[in-house]
Amino acid sequence: MRSKQKLAIIVFGGLTLLAGCQPAETPRVDLIPQPAQMELKGGYLRIDSAEVFQGKSNQFTSTIDPAWDGGRPEAYELNITKDGIDLRAASEAGIYYGQQTLRQLYKGEQGFPLVAIKDSARFAYRGLHLDVSRHFFEKEEVMKLLDVMSYYKLNRLHMHLTDAGGWRFEVEKYPRLTSHAAFRTESDWRKWWDGGDRKYLPEGTEGAYGGYYTKEDLREIVAYAASKHITVIPEVEFPGHSEEVFMAYPELCCAGKPYSGGDFCIGNEKSYQFMEDVLTEVMEIFPSEYIHVGGDEASKAHWKTCPKCQALMRREGMKDVDELQSYMIHRADEFLTSKGRKLIGWDEILQGGLAPGAAVMSWRGEQAGFQSVRMGHNVVMTPGNYMYLDFYQAFPNTQPYAIGGYTPIKKVYSYNPIPKDSLTAEEERHFMGVQGNTWTEYIPTPEHLEYMMFPRALAVAEIGWTPQEKREWNSFKRRVNAHIPVLQAKGINTFPLSDEIEVTMAVDTLQKHVEVFLDAEKDPAEIHYTTDGSVPTLSSPLYTAPILVTDSADIRAAIFRDGKLQGEPTEKRVDYHRGINKPIHYNNKLYAGYMAGGMNALLDGFRGGLTYLDGHWQGYLDNLDAVVDMGEVTDIRMVSSRWMQLTGPGVYQPTEVELLVSDDGQTFTSCGVVPTTVAQDDSRLLFQEYRFDGNWRGRYVQVKAKNPKGFIFVDEIVIW
Ligand code: ACM
Repeated sequence: MRSKQKLAIIVFGGLTLLAGCQPAETPRVDLIPQPAQMELKGGYLRIDSAEVFQGKSNQFTSTIDPAWDGGRPEAYELNITKDGIDLRAASEAGIYYGQQTLRQLYKGEQGFPLVAIKDSARFAYRGLHLDVSRHFFEKEEVMKLLDVMSYYKLNRLHMHLTDAGGWRFEVEKYPRLTSHAAFRTESDWRKWWDGGDRKYLPEGTEGAYGGYYTKEDLREIVAYAASKHITVIPEVEFPGHSEEVFMAYPELCCAGKPYSGGDFCIGNEKSYQFMEDVLTEVMEIFPSEYIHVGGDEASKAHWKTCPKCQALMRREGMKDVDELQSYMIHRADEFLTSKGRKLIGWDEILQGGLAPGAAVMSWRGEQAGFQSVRMGHNVVMTPGNYMYLDFYQAFPNTQPYAIGGYTPIKKVYSYNPIPKDSLTAEEERHFMGVQGNTWTEYIPTPEHLEYMMFPRALAVAEIGWTPQEKREWNSFKRRVNAHIPVLQAKGINTFPLSDEIEVTMAVDTLQKHVEVFLDAEKDPAEIHYTTDGSVPTLSSPLYTAPILVTDSADIRAAIFRDGKLQGEPTEKRVDYHRGINKPIHYNNKLYAGYMAGGMNALLDGFRGGLTYLDGHWQGYLDNLDAVVDMGEVTDIRMVSSRWMQLTGPGVYQPTEVELLVSDDGQTFTSCGVVPTTVAQDDSRLLFQEYRFDGNWRGRYVQVKAKNPKGFIFVDEIVIW
């Protein structure tokens, strides 16, 4: 590169200061989100960037034409030629997004690459959610997030302002919310909530943990966000997740005393007075069209016996307590609608009947979102499996403690809010967009918050902005790698992306082999691998194409940089074994929620990954008792099964696994029992392979696993 420039200077002499004089060198640009249309022309325009960004350069024209591109509010067109920069849009927001693109295009000394871009947003709602209750984040951190969000064209910040962790903003009519419910005995959630006293402390108590925003703080946040074309959506939780409210105003819960539960009393008119008063003060600060009223995970326990709730049910002819939840949300909807606003809530607001004007945030998967758009309601898609940024983003044992799950950036990026062909055009119009959620139980500091949010938030930004057909993992991977130093230069403590290797498989039952694919988040990545389980070295094969496995392989793979192995080699056992696609019969009950794709999940050749939600782990609340029919009496030399333990969500190793064989499917002979070697209270993510080697004959192979107390999860039964 450098020598080429030198050559240019010699050949073109004094002309080098003019733009575009370098011969057709295609600059590398790394825009996130990827624009809808972009054509690189080759070469650069070299002008004073400070003048461009201040709008002072006479080579930079910026035009707002309300009729441009049909008046689409966020669209823009950006042309950089050797003569200058031309930016046009129908609105200030469009100009703003064009400017963000310009900022990302700028290459320092080299200038701006010559390019023609025509760009617009796929979704109007491109959000991040921040839980400031479980841990409190100062105004300055929120401002910092707004800066970074706007750079990536994210335009909604959903602030989860209230929850059991503490009430987080000043309310004039209810001063005790901040004086008595914004501080607590411990910062550490594991000490305070999971295993602690869950007690609140008055403001000013020495050593108390907590905080809240003044009205002035919130106004500053809202104004700063607006200057960056970001809408702040406030959330105040009703009727559940409100333990802290009842510390301050115990008369608003069924038991009438603090520390008795987290649900508002639905039968008490005072609950509605409180709701309307608080929402009134919220609306004075937040101009957002949508106001979030929570609605998730109400326990509803007290409602079943509370005289006031029961009286309301009788009066209204309600059949179950779900209708009480719905009653409160309907009242919130009527109130907000009467003030010219709209209600949005978590997908539980569907229970007992959705309020007429309400929009839904689909978090427990996607079905609630699909159901809502079919009913004509707007939705924001934020399904836990893809959009929860508090989940692990790399192998849990290498990461700070998190709530669970596993959503590495590739998984986040793979999410498409509108699946192909399943919805009508009218239904599609109700998808407002997407949002990444950051719950902060286990995220105590701003540094940790940034580590969990970034760079995954960039994947959310691209899902929200870029047309689906223009999104491609390999392209995004290259670009997001280039943005790690960009984020770091902005002072963001981003996760630097993982050195782990992702191993995926395609099982071909016609060719009788497994194709193994290796991928990494890091790019470029020089991946070397072995198939015999040995640690790869520089002289091990370089991964360039899928690895074919016709029997068994112990794949071990790692990234090499500067000749050195990075991190821990990733291991994956792959078997095209004799049990694949054989009929299986289950003697015990299966659990419908964790079928891993169906009845042959244990004999499909697929080993699971790091999360039981990846579609390859089958889970049971019962024991496993499964019989495989090999089709004829045959030699059985090895049978194994691999199980997961993750105690957080209640997944345990079986206490033991037993193998039995039979000729006739009636009389089974035990071949042995393998007990677990994993302690039940070991909270790490742990796997155990239960393996039986021997020399048996039989047609039927039976595997039994004893469930100790919760869920047990297995990915594959391997038979040789
Ligand atoms: C939620 O994650 N409880 C909305």
